[in-house]
Amino acid sequence: MAKATTRYNCSSCNHVSLKWLGCCPECNEWNTFTEQQQVKTKPATPTTSASPLQSLDEISHEKQSRILSRIHEWDRVLGGGIMPSSLLVLTGDPGIGKSTLLLQVCNALAQQQEIFYFSTEESMYQVKQRAIRLGCDSQQLKFSDNPDLGAIVATAEQHQPAAIIIDSIQSCFIPGSASLPGSVGQLREAVFQLMRLAKEKGITVILTGHITKEGIIAGPKTLEHMVDGVFYLQGEDQWNTRILRAVKNRFGTINEIGFFEMAENGLQEVANINAHLLDDISHESGASLISIMEGSRPLLLEVQALTIQSKLAMPQRVVSGIDHKQVILIAAILEKYLHIKLSTHDIFCKVSGGFKIKGSSSDLGIALALLSSYFQQPLPEKTIALGEISLTGNIKPINQIGMLVKEAEKFHIKNLLLAKQQKIENTACIIKKFHHVYELLTLFELS
Ligand code: TYD
Ligand code: MG
Repeated sequence: MAKATTRYNCSSCNHVSLKWLGCCPECNEWNTFTEQQQVKTKPATPTTSASPLQSLDEISHEKQSRILSRIHEWDRVLGGGIMPSSLLVLTGDPGIGKSTLLLQVCNALAQQQEIFYFSTEESMYQVKQRAIRLGCDSQQLKFSDNPDLGAIVATAEQHQPAAIIIDSIQSCFIPGSASLPGSVGQLREAVFQLMRLAKEKGITVILTGHITKEGIIAGPKTLEHMVDGVFYLQGEDQWNTRILRAVKNRFGTINEIGFFEMAENGLQEVANINAHLLDDISHESGASLISIMEGSRPLLLEVQALTIQSKLAMPQRVVSGIDHKQVILIAAILEKYLHIKLSTHDIFCKVSGGFKIKGSSSDLGIALALLSSYFQQPLPEKTIALGEISLTGNIKPINQIGMLVKEAEKFHIKNLLLAKQQKIENTACIIKKFHHVYELLTLFELS
């Protein structure tokens, strides 16, 4: 006879336990365990037939043509347009422009084929308002605000559009599902159903996903493993620049990034980001120019610093766009070897354009911005600084300098400030090399 056993299921992530638990060990949610009676039956004899196998010669290798939106920054980041039948996630902070970007992409794609946009978060009225603002005009773009995933999948299966968009996956629900709407368990179930829709019916699925406070997709890590591509739209509130970045792309590289600017009529592509960035720079005390690689693209950025005698017992260090520990370390090195009193100064430091920079190749630029503010003297015009600084105050060479300098030359940079051992070929720039941070004082005529 079949035997009944009791199991406890987490309604948030579907974790199963033999005992009732207050807090789920899988998703850390409280009071989510519910009792489930399970009837153990004899396992049925498997009826699945064996899978047919193919040799490499038999597997079709026809090049699939990509779906191009002609929004070049989008197409490029996706690896040359959307691969048909793929399942993609676009994520980012609330209000960053995910719905705006997707609506623009959909309107462009729907000039050639049918696209369905399921707005599960916003009403049809809100979608229409946005569409008017963006000047959407495509008749092949159809909308629905039904958040029922069953209905979404059925609609897609019946009409077979080229692509569907679900904005957002977290606000969809699966009727009759054991887990709660919006829970991790339901999210996983929804993505699984959509993956089958994409792979079996050949319909491209693009989802928007919420992001947690820590900046990762809200949901289990398995979600990222299931989908073909994960793209982040990033930017800072006070800046209009938006960066589209691939963090996973089965059909392209993750080195590509795309630049947009949020305008009155949606996200506008910024093809020439460096011209745009250099437009805004000042040639004043406390500013230095650096160049960094963002994916496969060199960026020319301004580091801005302000040092001012502090009135506090613990001087302030306010840093944005750079790891604050890097700035504190460079300030300490300058204090130690140049005998300047940065420890009694408040230090404010940031990067232009709302960009975030990582890595030590910007050390020299940060040091020069601090010194330029401290001595109230601007650095020479059209100058970029590229170098790492060691704890002993030595200036060290950096990698990939060729591409950075080539890009700088395009924008009429005349002077390079580098490490003594930095090897560099074919440049028309005037090079000034430094061995140790104390030599930087020569730039301020103070040595
Ligand atoms: P939205 O696409 O709704 O963000 P998300 O889907 O990521 O939450 O964008 C919301 C912000 O973008 C909102 O603050 C208004 C601004 N915006 C513009 O500045 N210009 C525009 O043309 C549009 C449509 C939005
Ligand atoms: Mg949105």
